Amino acid sequence: MIRTPLTELLGIRHPVVQAAMGYVSGPRLAAATSNAGGLGLIASATMSLAELERAIAETRSRTSAPFGVNLRADAPDAAERVGLIVAGRVPVASFAQAPKPELVAALKDAGVITIASVGARRHAEKAAGWGIDAVIATGGEGGGHVGAVPTSLLIPQVASAVDIPVIAAGGFFDGRGLVAALAWGAAGIAMGTRFLLTSDSPVPDAVKQVYLAAGLDGTVVTARVDGVPHRVLRTRMVDQLVGWHGPAGGLGSGLGSGSGWLSGPRRAAALVRSARNAAGFRGQSGMSWREMLRQGRTMHQAGGLTWGQVLMAANTPVLLHAAMVDGRPDLGLMSSGQVAGLIDDLPSCAELIGAIMTEAEACLDRLATARSA
Ligand SMILES: Cc1cc2nc3c(=O)[nH]c(=O)nc-3n(C[C@H](O)[C@H](O)[C@H](O)COP(=O)(O)O)c2cc1C
Repeated sequence: MIRTPLTELLGIRHPVVQAAMGYVSGPRLAAATSNAGGLGLIASATMSLAELERAIAETRSRTSAPFGVNLRADAPDAAERVGLIVAGRVPVASFAQAPKPELVAALKDAGVITIASVGARRHAEKAAGWGIDAVIATGGEGGGHVGAVPTSLLIPQVASAVDIPVIAAGGFFDGRGLVAALAWGAAGIAMGTRFLLTSDSPVPDAVKQVYLAAGLDGTVVTARVDGVPHRVLRTRMVDQLVGWHGPAGGLGSGLGSGSGWLSGPRRAAALVRSARNAAGFRGQSGMSWREMLRQGRTMHQAGGLTWGQVLMAANTPVLLHAAMVDGRPDLGLMSSGQVAGLIDDLPSCAELIGAIMTEAEACLDRLATARSA
């Protein structure tokens, strides 16, 4: 057993968290993680309020161990989501991106443990000042929306800056990584891509196979999808979108290079694709054109996005849904950490967490032997 301030805070057996993943981490994956002694998190940003309420009830029916709900503080109905978390007696709430002090206070008053996701030291310090109980610090190798600082630099920096438990994320997949995170001052690890690639994850097998086939150069960070840096699997569609020119361009040139826009006919083609997808999104979300345009105008003005980027941002849920739920890796978008390049199996959550803990303990023994030798 490895005890840390995180296992103590959450009342879990192992310092391993399943990171929130839209359309992926629902009741099945979250409960399987919690039953295996880690902390499962339901990703609620892609759920309606009614779906979230059902997901909480289903997760509770699948596990008696602690679990959590991940939510966006900037969602228009964030207060209602907090209400569902409190009413459902969910032990943990985690914020994707920045939390809001009043939401943190409401959760804490109701006895819910709060976690903030951060990608920079100053965000961790701010969240700690608002009374958050722990932070998940995610380095640049992580999947989904990421910052630029690599895990190996971010975790020691954040761990030195705050005195609440730090959960290290971005690139973790095994027991050696857990020990490295503990050495950097973290109290545990969170993993997204590794949990997506388990037999308990609901992602269609055809899509899991695309992840398994990826090499270490199989992902790219681009802002061309939704206006902010997003690490995704490199597929033909993504390559077209970011204007990938092969290894000579290098992964480094992919990092951050997606902030500009395509020119000429490729730009026009991307916009047509965007408009088509935006229309699909409108149909699926039930949102009116008026509301979509209102949100788009806000993003355009407040977020400094071009209209093309606004269209792509509206697409993102549709594109993620196409891959993660409909099983169409050719049409969809697959958020992924670089770690996909090191993963080649689909264990259950119990097998995965068991193997990580066994390896971590062996690793600690080896280090202790090295010290006494
Ligand atoms: C498929 C996928 C979907 C994700 N969706 C979300 C999400 O909805 N909300 C969120 O805060 N983070 C999301 N993330 C980011 C993860 O929570 C986590 O930060 C990341 O996976 C950690 O890096 P790793 O993949 O190297 O373990 C997603 C990541 C992946 C791989």
